[in-house]
Amino acid sequence: MSATQSDQSPADQFAAQTDQALAETYGDRDGLVAAYDAVRAHTETLAAPLSPEDQTVQSMPDVSPTKWHRAHVTWFFETFLLSDNEPGFAPFQDRYWFLFNSYYETLGPRYARPDRGLITRPGAHEVGDYRGNVDGRVRDLLTRADEETLRRVLPTVELGFHHEQQHQELLLMDIKHVLSRNPLEPVYAGRPAALLGSTTPGPLEHADPGPMGWVDVEGGLVEVGHEGGGFCFDNELPRHRTWLEPYRLADRLVTNGEWLEFMRDGGYERHGLWLSDGWGRVKADGWRAPFYWTERDGEWFEHTLHGTWPVDPTLPVAHVSFYEADAYATWAGRRLPSEAEWEHAVVVDGQGERVSGNLADTTTWHPRPAAPAVPGGPRLRQVHGDCWEWTSSAYHAYPGFHPPEGAIGEYNGKFMSSQMVLRGGCALTPPGHARTTYRNFFPHSARWALSGVRLADGGEPRR
Ligand SMILES: [Fe+2]
Repeated sequence: MSATQSDQSPADQFAAQTDQALAETYGDRDGLVAAYDAVRAHTETLAAPLSPEDQTVQSMPDVSPTKWHRAHVTWFFETFLLSDNEPGFAPFQDRYWFLFNSYYETLGPRYARPDRGLITRPGAHEVGDYRGNVDGRVRDLLTRADEETLRRVLPTVELGFHHEQQHQELLLMDIKHVLSRNPLEPVYAGRPAALLGSTTPGPLEHADPGPMGWVDVEGGLVEVGHEGGGFCFDNELPRHRTWLEPYRLADRLVTNGEWLEFMRDGGYERHGLWLSDGWGRVKADGWRAPFYWTERDGEWFEHTLHGTWPVDPTLPVAHVSFYEADAYATWAGRRLPSEAEWEHAVVVDGQGERVSGNLADTTTWHPRPAAPAVPGGPRLRQVHGDCWEWTSSAYHAYPGFHPPEGAIGEYNGKFMSSQMVLRGGCALTPPGHARTTYRNFFPHSARWALSGVRLADGGEPRR
């Protein structure tokens, strides 16, 4: 340590050693370690209600067992952070690199994704041992690394935070599907406190969100993509210009009540409403309602992480595919927004930096009714949280996009085909993980993700 540095506070030293943005985020080394511990502890909190048996099941190929998520995010820190930077590195277990590599071809062969549910060892408790071991080694590295090493590894550490948060969201989406397959209708978490004592099964409240309103946006030559300090994924870059014709965005998400009208009007039976591939899925898979809806004696019920309850018409419709979202928009005489329209409208509405909403910072693991419009407040409701919102935009590279070198370059770029972009975050997105420029993506037919619908009108032609 130089004489000059010894006169500095720990926070000043940290700022001198790192990018300014990272220093502002974490303060000093202790702050960085505390942030690491907080992210890691949250994963364990989410897994805590689940038995080892719950954590082992893989109910379909898209779903991963809870204990696999817990191990894979640990493998990520071990592989991308410790292997190149820990003095005398040795893996916790020689074969875990094969078992817990998700999709990184650069790192060699890996265990088949659809077979993750066949793995009974390591068990959930042994995965906990793995997590504890890696946690101790990461803390040592962050505490003792020399300045040059710390500066070099910080972007990887921060990517590890956000990667683990992505899996926290997936863990909840996946266990929702696992529990949905059990005829005993198990509950992941207790019903929201507001329901306790209620004799009426249902979600938090039954607030009527009112009729759908519309927000006019001027458009023109606008900029989209991440800018300035703070973390973003590579696929949010570079910020660039794009042209938008004048358009309108619905001020809230489509509700279950509106979706029921679509169903009663033959929404799932009229081929003219559907894209060809979507109609193919309707027929092949027997779609007749959103993913987690079941009909009993003429009444529709919805499976949630809080249990199964009658479909509440005030809640946003959830767990619909892009095909269904598009068919609904066609039926309604509207269209889905492009991702640039969504992002620009949110910024114009003053919510670009102010990310708040029904994210996973409550004990409600489900979308809530749209809050009443506030005079003088933001015009767009349910922007961040509740449901990831399907857009009409195919997931592809922004102009000038270049994935990073090496295995980490596989994180996002190689998935830029045959998927659609979703925006906004959902009720299962960890707080601090949602951003206005965040580009989520799923295949057109995906329904197990917590996805919903916001309509658009004007501007680009609807199909
Ligand atoms: Fe991952």
